[in-house]
Amino acid sequence: MTDERLPVANLYPDPPLLDRWLNVPGHLCRKERWKLHDLALDHVRTACLEIGSWLGAGLGCLLSGTRGTEAKVFSIDLYNEDALQRQMLTLEAYDVDSTRLIRYDGPSQEIGKHWAIPLDLVFIDGSHEPEDLRQDLDLFAPHVGLEGVMILHDSRMPDEDEIADRVNRLYNLRRLSAQLRPAIEGWLVDQMGAWCELEPCHSMRVFRRKVLPQ
Ligand SMILES: C[S@@+](CC[C@H](N)C(=O)[O-])C[C@H]1O[C@@H](n2cnc3c(N)ncnc32)[C@H](O)[C@@H]1O
Repeated sequence: MTDERLPVANLYPDPPLLDRWLNVPGHLCRKERWKLHDLALDHVRTACLEIGSWLGAGLGCLLSGTRGTEAKVFSIDLYNEDALQRQMLTLEAYDVDSTRLIRYDGPSQEIGKHWAIPLDLVFIDGSHEPEDLRQDLDLFAPHVGLEGVMILHDSRMPDEDEIADRVNRLYNLRRLSAQLRPAIEGWLVDQMGAWCELEPCHSMRVFRRKVLPQ
């Protein structure tokens, strides 16, 4: 893959900033934050989308991974004033260029019906109801171009030793990943080999498009 941007070393935040960045509140563990950052760095050229942004930890990873580019970062959430204020504080901590961030307020299952923007990466972490996830996949996957990636949070159980210190998370994740699995597998069957699965990270499954969207 050609990369016309700055060398990777210049894109990484400096250590004090990095420390703050990994500690801002959110549901993503440190490994997942790095993974999201690196997937954005490797795959995003023009635009990416996060469904379900809450306090902005994932958005910070996407904005940071596309640092130094003109790439747009879209976010869809059921925004409320409190979450929005806290998200803006998070992004300040990340010290990223928020002028590239475009927020949509509303259910992704409605916004997706009118979506027309090509995307290089979609990170789904919104509604965890299986029917909603399936709708998100059906509505947004067609906008992901060749070599683009779909990332699904809470979709697998990490290795036990990775979550030994977070028992509540383990219980939640066991339930969430089991409830989402049939929706994901059903979508994959209907996609008829259009995606290959990349190496997972913690609770994230990652799929890369290998066939042009129809
Ligand atoms: C687990 S949090 C997201 C965590 C976030 N990705 C992070 O990096 O910490 C889930 C978010 O999804 C949003 N959400 C739930 N249902 C949604 C829907 N149908 N459409 C859009 N956003 C939704 C919630 O408002 C909440 O902010």
